[in-house]
Amino acid sequence: MDNAQSMTADYPDQLWRPLTQHAALRGTTPPQMQSAKGCTLTMNNGAQLLDGLAGLWCVNIGYGRREIAEIAARQMEQLNYLAPVMACEPTLALAEKMQTMLGFKCHSYFSSSGSEANEAAFKIARQYHLQNGKPGDNRYKIISRYRAYHGNTAGAMAATGQAERKTGSEPGPAGFVHVMPPYPFRAHPKLSTLEHGAECARLLEEAIIHEGANTVAAVIMEPMMSGGGVIVPPDNYLPLVRQICDRYGVLLIFDEVVSGFGRLGTMFGYEHWATEADIYTFAKGLSSGYFPMGATVVKDHVFTGFDGAPDSMRHLRQINTFGGHPVGAAIALEAIAIVEREGLAGNAREQGDHVRDVLGRELGQHPHVGEIRGLGMLTGIELVEDRESKVPLGEAKIMQILASCMGDGVILGRNTNTVPGRCNILLIAPPLVVTRDEIDRIAAAVTKALKSVA
Ligand SMILES: Cc1ncc(COP(=O)(O)O)c(C=O)c1O
Repeated sequence: MDNAQSMTADYPDQLWRPLTQHAALRGTTPPQMQSAKGCTLTMNNGAQLLDGLAGLWCVNIGYGRREIAEIAARQMEQLNYLAPVMACEPTLALAEKMQTMLGFKCHSYFSSSGSEANEAAFKIARQYHLQNGKPGDNRYKIISRYRAYHGNTAGAMAATGQAERKTGSEPGPAGFVHVMPPYPFRAHPKLSTLEHGAECARLLEEAIIHEGANTVAAVIMEPMMSGGGVIVPPDNYLPLVRQICDRYGVLLIFDEVVSGFGRLGTMFGYEHWATEADIYTFAKGLSSGYFPMGATVVKDHVFTGFDGAPDSMRHLRQINTFGGHPVGAAIALEAIAIVEREGLAGNAREQGDHVRDVLGRELGQHPHVGEIRGLGMLTGIELVEDRESKVPLGEAKIMQILASCMGDGVILGRNTNTVPGRCNILLIAPPLVVTRDEIDRIAAAVTKALKSVA
């Protein structure tokens, strides 16, 4: 890779990078990025890389937006911080904007990340049941799915269903239960996709029954699983999950940290399945990576479950120092306005459908391509040794594919430290501003890389 090779002078490097084996970097200077614009990162040696992953699929509006920088500067001068027990114009406006966009009455609790947004969702669900449950209820369990990622804080990691992420930090907190997600590519061959969706929903119901429904507070899931491998659920799955949650009085949390604000070609992921949750969590696209920001958005029937006399201790006993940060809120408002103004969900749909078409034509019959799938601007390519056995492709070839793309100036992702031996899904998720020319360059780099390992 030309870009990396030109950066290998010895250099003191005290930065501990996530998910990185530093021994392999010792004695080298890993590439440094200097600036970015649109979908392109520029390194300090001038080399340019097309970011096929939008950072961590968060820079939805693209890099280097002057309008955001100006708004941030103005807000910093005017009111750079406010304790979140108080309110200011941008934060109130953002909470109102969430309600307008979602189209139902809700309240937003702001924090600084997706992990914190999910932690708040779990606490809200548990306290809600404590205060509103039937006599004899003890609803504290959170059910999530294997393969899912929900964040790195204690509760969010406990809800995460990725064995490799958790090894070394377990045991985590009690009260978290996992079920299998739908996974059409690896479903029982005798089941149709819809039968598979119904079966996975049935197994969720069985888990609730076997745990004891009166111990279950909430089910959390992404509408479409992203980091766990870009797994599009069968059309009947989310509606069935909704019905099951209603049947057993369990709250449904949609983790829209990735799918919120246009990524799946709709403003919110759940729109694809016309299924609503009780609680939604957001981060990433909320501020498009211009400010660390998370939100836990709660429908009114949950919010009013915290009503009570001032001394009743029914209020939410939770605070984040940087929650509802005025600068973050001002930035998020503008980032969302850009997504709306520039029709970025529509562009995500158009360019996403296009890239899956192109890749399907070029690689549909490739021996190592098991499936090309996704929605909007989030595409996964499941790599296999061969299409019959579906054995996940070995690490060496996956690394070769990623290196080939890098050599062509394209950053791609893959699911990392997910399920042991099953980190075999390539991820394509550039900023939603991606142009036809850029997405074609990404498709060409992926095609070339895969042809080189056939
Ligand atoms: C679906 C999902 N939920 C939650 C998180 C956690 O977000 P954060 O890294 O901002 O804490 C992530 C992060 O990738 C995610 O993909």
